[in-house]
Amino acid sequence: MKGFTVWFTGLPSSGKSTLARMLEKVLNDMDFHVEVLDGDEVRLRLSKGLGFSKEDRDENIRRISYVAKIVTRCGAVAITCAISPYREIRDEARREIGRFVEVYVKCTLEECISRDVKGMYKKALSGEIKNFTGISDPYEEPLNPEIIVETDKESQEESLSKIVSGLIELGYITKEKLRNVSL
Ligand code: ADX
Repeated sequence: MKGFTVWFTGLPSSGKSTLARMLEKVLNDMDFHVEVLDGDEVRLRLSKGLGFSKEDRDENIRRISYVAKIVTRCGAVAITCAISPYREIRDEARREIGRFVEVYVKCTLEECISRDVKGMYKKALSGEIKNFTGISDPYEEPLNPEIIVETDKESQEESLSKIVSGLIELGYITKEKLRNVSL
């Protein structure tokens, strides 16, 4: 089987990790080997010591992209879920990896703030955390992502199903293989 990378991008608390784990299960059931490179986990290991300046974020994305490229080259699926707020470095990852599907996890800032999964928006809004994406640091929306999901309007299952349909349309997975999988 040929590998590919699914690159999730979106604001904090937009739903990237949740959808990544759901997609991981679907692809596992289709007998793909899958590696999830989760932003939070990566920052504890591969990117330990990096902060949240543009320079450090770009370096973080370059490292994730490098690993995703290797995983893809081995015929497996790399699923990345980092905010990856800067367009240029995402496009660099796209060029590097080749078999690359950008999934924009779109969600209004208001909804993300109300979810505040890790309580970080609260801290960012009170000024306790500086340079927080969406509040005091930029997020550059993708201009031409392969797939867009709107997690403030769709159920998790609807978003997952959009991603799976997108992967079929793009030719990365086949309908036949999906038949054995319960979504
Ligand atoms: S990225 O910008 O380099 O892609 P990444 O996804 O790795 O970010 O890390 C984001 C996570 O780091 C957030 O979910 C949050 O828990 C934490 N974090 C800590 N400080 C910040 C900050 N200033 N901006 C965004 N996220 C932050």
